[in-house]
Amino acid sequence: MMDVKFDDSEMVNYSPLMRSFTFNAYLVAGFTPISRGSQLDFYINRPQGMKGYILNLTLKGCGRIKAGEHYIHSQQNEILLFPPGVPHFYGRAEHSDNWDHLWIYFLPRPYWLDWLRWDINHHGISRMVLPDAAASAAMKSLFSEVIHHHSHAETLSEAMAMNALERVILSCFKAQPVSNRNAADPRINTLCQYLNDHISEDLKIDDLAKQIFLSPSRVAHLFKSEMNQTIFAWREQQRVTRARSLLQTTHLSVSHIAQAVGYDDSLYFSRIFRQHCGISPREYRKKFETMNSL
Ligand code: FCB
Repeated sequence: MMDVKFDDSEMVNYSPLMRSFTFNAYLVAGFTPISRGSQLDFYINRPQGMKGYILNLTLKGCGRIKAGEHYIHSQQNEILLFPPGVPHFYGRAEHSDNWDHLWIYFLPRPYWLDWLRWDINHHGISRMVLPDAAASAAMKSLFSEVIHHHSHAETLSEAMAMNALERVILSCFKAQPVSNRNAADPRINTLCQYLNDHISEDLKIDDLAKQIFLSPSRVAHLFKSEMNQTIFAWREQQRVTRARSLLQTTHLSVSHIAQAVGYDDSLYFSRIFRQHCGISPREYRKKFETMNSL
């Protein structure tokens, strides 16, 4: 495992006030050091929650988090998990002078969903306490690795960040009691795999339904309930992910990449890409070329 250490002054560079974050990405990670009366000392209020998941590791002090009509607290060595759509209302607990926490916002890979169901849950917010000091140190180092990769726009840095995040998620899941380890519907995993294997094809809901022997309406419904989004919204995300990777790692033209991920019309593809990433495919490629030549 890579041992990434930050001293506090370096970590502050990753705090949300120091740079502009966009949550259109697959993964955004940072450090929020809150001390009484400082710039960051306010309550985060997101009544609709977020589109992706958030993992939150407390390093110092205590956070206070609204869960339904009540409040829960997060102390050093505790991890919170907010699934999509769960309201966020949290900040430093009044009795504590600090609440420093590392956080990772992400859109999960489909097979991670099984591992994102934890045992202790307060109105949708899951919580776990790391078992010992060694587990806490290892977790802090993994979070730091995710932040480190996320903040370096180099070839494959996003993939490296996702890889470290997968290890965070696995470690958390391994620390859950056995009772929770029931799989999500395996038919949906099969379908996700199938969609990814045929990403360039214009598959219709009927084609997909046949793959898992269900009716089209049942497939649409089951997918939505397991994945919190429609099949086609999910496929679009997968297409953009694949396109990002091709832009970073090949010299294929944008129109070839559009076709490879299922769009015959490259203008339409560029529009979709911009909606997800905030910049055009060409600008995205350039950003990586510039970074790599520094
Ligand atoms: C930051 C918060 C952090 C997390 C991220 C997504 O502003 O400090 O707890 O919610 O946003």
